[in-house]
Amino acid sequence: MVEYTSESNPLPRHIAVIMDGNGRWARERGEDRVFGHANGVESVRSAVRAAGELGVEFLTLYAFSTENWARPKEEINALMELLVESLAGEVEELVRKGVRLRSTGAIDALPESCRAALKDVEERTAGCSGLSLILALSYSGRWELTEAVRRIVRSGIPAEAIDEDTVRAHLGMPDVPDPELLIRTSGEQRLSNFLLWQLAYSELHFSPVMWPDFREDHFKAAILEFRGRERRFGRTGEQVSGVGSSTGDQKTKKGE
Ligand code: FPP
Repeated sequence: MVEYTSESNPLPRHIAVIMDGNGRWARERGEDRVFGHANGVESVRSAVRAAGELGVEFLTLYAFSTENWARPKEEINALMELLVESLAGEVEELVRKGVRLRSTGAIDALPESCRAALKDVEERTAGCSGLSLILALSYSGRWELTEAVRRIVRSGIPAEAIDEDTVRAHLGMPDVPDPELLIRTSGEQRLSNFLLWQLAYSELHFSPVMWPDFREDHFKAAILEFRGRERRFGRTGEQVSGVGSSTGDQKTKKGE
């Protein structure tokens, strides 16, 4: 049996995914970009299945960025419709699998039909204790940080009292640990304004596979690669491995 956890790197609690390549995948087939997004839904199912099966606790998917609002209106509308349809079509399966749906981003900016569908699925899965599936919608890291600054200023906390914990506590999902692993598909190697605070020490896995072709095996391969990475969190390799260093047995501080 394949082991997805190693002594140095336990199974990631949180995996974040930039689902990229839908448009190119569709164009390669002579189809409209929306065809790629529609086919990407099966890849979302695969990722949820794999994450749930392995016992990953949080899976955050970059489904629609703040910058995506600049896309052609037809594409935006089609994406929103796809989201509503997928949520309505998957809710029973999510409940059956114990998957809790959450969302992060400027949800108020979404069309009413989307907000209603999200609210419905979030409520119906609120009691689920398995995987938390987090959809980042109308989201960007800079937007989230700007919102956090606004909330901190409004709260009246004195400047001298603000530290990293204060900032973290004012982000969109303060209860969710930072992702240990980020996966981006389609061969692009950028963060594209995703989870800028939370990805500070994440391991990055760039897959050449276009999102509509990304399946459980690809997802699991990313975790296997992660398992072999040395995570140093600013320390030396010797400290981490415990060789030739008095601080080598120090525990890796998770989530930083
Ligand atoms: C990026 O590919 C993908 C998106 C902007 C949308 C992702 C949406 C889905 C997979 C569909 C629905 C999601 C859920 C959660 C049900 P791109 O269009 O930027 O591709 P390109 O780089 O090839 O143009």
